[in-house]
Amino acid sequence: MEPVYLDHAAHGPIRPSVLDAYRDAACRWAVNANNLSHARGRSAAAALDTAREKTSVLIGATPNEITFTSGATESNNWVIFGAALRTNRRRIITVATEHVSVLAPVAALRERHGFDVTLLEVDRWGRLDPQRVIEAVDDQVALVSIMLANNEIGTRHDLAPIGEHCRTLGVPLHTDITQAVGRIPVDVCTLQASFATFSSHKIHGPLGIGALWKHPDETLVPLLLGGRPDQGLRPGTINLPAAVGFGVASEEAADRLNHDPHGLQRTTERLSAGLESIRGALRVSPVEDAVTGIVNVAFPGVDAREVLDATPEIIGATGSACSAHTVTLSPVIEAIDLPRDARLSCIRLSPGWFTTENEIDVALEAMTSTVRTLRERNGLSKARTNREYQA
Ligand SMILES: Cc1ncc(COP(=O)(O)O)c(C=O)c1O
Repeated sequence: MEPVYLDHAAHGPIRPSVLDAYRDAACRWAVNANNLSHARGRSAAAALDTAREKTSVLIGATPNEITFTSGATESNNWVIFGAALRTNRRRIITVATEHVSVLAPVAALRERHGFDVTLLEVDRWGRLDPQRVIEAVDDQVALVSIMLANNEIGTRHDLAPIGEHCRTLGVPLHTDITQAVGRIPVDVCTLQASFATFSSHKIHGPLGIGALWKHPDETLVPLLLGGRPDQGLRPGTINLPAAVGFGVASEEAADRLNHDPHGLQRTTERLSAGLESIRGALRVSPVEDAVTGIVNVAFPGVDAREVLDATPEIIGATGSACSAHTVTLSPVIEAIDLPRDARLSCIRLSPGWFTTENEIDVALEAMTSTVRTLRERNGLSKARTNREYQA
């Protein structure tokens, strides 16, 4: 039996329908969609328009506000450098738990260009205090960047009041919506944001394509220079088959949210409850403010990589990365105040819309058995239970 895939936060496998649309577009429009001087180019451009329309609908935007990029990493870098380049303001505000594709360009602005960076702290559950954010923002800020849902522990931020405050001061708010799109309804207008960024392969679309949404009143300096820019902003021959696939994936994601709004929630809750009932489990994701589809749990005293290695029945992720001799914690696990013996034991399991309840049960049975064996081996049979930890 194939392992149960519980790593949708890292990548959502492409859907057959999306692959068909991708293949069809690659064969049918073997042209440059930017070249409108022949009929096939114009037909390719029309297919691109349709893809942009479908992608925009998923986030409550209009098509001409969307520019295609190579993925959320490029979109994030673009917003951050682009917003910094267009102003004399020299302050950036972001959060300690942002994705590295936000934290790294922000760090580069500080180190190479002397920007003053405020890295907002979060609580044990990855939550921000909106009032503290509002107090930190003044009219000297070039950009505020706060993700909608966290990629490792799923924490959602309430952006509307922050966005409203930013707007009154004329400060742009960027939000990385990569982990929220397709899991929960997202409406960029309600968020009061200026920029939003996301990626196709997280919603079962093709790899190598993402999007940047820009409020119609905002400007953005192009990051790349060259010919025939998409939306006048991003040059280079557009990846039409990927854009068509992204459009289909967006349309299907919107359909799932409309027709089965609790589908992903059901499996997420089953997984979450099952994991928490394993002896020695400590919940890392927040209970109420988490996006559906991301569950993070720790088994203090047991190494997360060992758990995953000893559980071939599932594919999941840990909150740490190891190189030759060192283990590095992710910024998210660093930022939340977990007990010491839990920090190397965080496991993120992310079911998708097509994960079945039976698969969840298989995963839980396998995890329960592995954790029991490793805890016994580590002499932890009498260690604290989840409830004792939370108390
Ligand atoms: C929150 C978040 N932002 C950005 C990215 C980067 O996305 P991409 O793989 O499209 O570059 C990821 C990928 O994991 C993510 O989770």
